[in-house]
Amino acid sequence: MCSYRIEARIETERLILRPPRPEDAERIAALIADYDIVKMLSRVPWPYTVDDARAFVSRVDELDPAFDRPLTIEHRQHGVIGSSGFHTPAESLFPEVGYWIGREHWGQGYATEATTAALGWARDVWGKRAVASGHHADNTASARVLAKAGFLYTGDVIARQSLARGEPTPTRMMIWLA
Ligand SMILES: CC(C)(COP(=O)(O)OP(=O)(O)OC[C@H]1O[C@@H](n2cnc3c(N)ncnc32)[C@H](O)[C@@H]1OP(=O)(O)O)[C@@H](O)C(=O)NCCC(=O)NCCS
Repeated sequence: MCSYRIEARIETERLILRPPRPEDAERIAALIADYDIVKMLSRVPWPYTVDDARAFVSRVDELDPAFDRPLTIEHRQHGVIGSSGFHTPAESLFPEVGYWIGREHWGQGYATEATTAALGWARDVWGKRAVASGHHADNTASARVLAKAGFLYTGDVIARQSLARGEPTPTRMMIWLA
């Protein structure tokens, strides 16, 4: 059996993106336990507890690195401020990128900086030729982040489950070409 791992460590001027570690769990839980964040994400439960964060970080090593790359976003001064990462849905040719930033750090360009750097890594190190993403139709901030990172709308609007909202939510799909 062959197993390999291209360790992702992505550095920008202000941020370091790297695989989540067990010691991130409490900080992740403190930042993401905010309905205005979780309602914009597909696969995050609500309410969110530190046990959810511990379960999330404990599963990281079980993921196939060819398809799934969760990343913790660490600020060089402030420590962990959010998460990014790639997930490849079963039926998809391309990975999808997703992200969130703790509320106290919104509006300072961190999501755009992290996403742009993660896309460069996906192209140059992971060897991906395209990355998909989608934002709920009411998520104007994420629409801006994806546009600034170079995504274009595919024209597809799909009803995608939001665990926190408990119902399918119209989601505008976008694509980025390497
Ligand atoms: C979306 C999110 C990641 C943005 O993080 P951020 O670090 O504040 O993002 P940036 O600072 O890089 O860019 C935000 C952009 O959205 C704009 N924006 C923020 N709130 C907005 C709003 N309510 N309406 C319109 N634009 C808005 C900002 O002005 C900025 O665009 P600009 O540079 O053109 O002015 C953050 O709000 C978040 O975590 N939201 C909840 C989770 C989420 O939505 N994740 C993405 C799921 S698809």
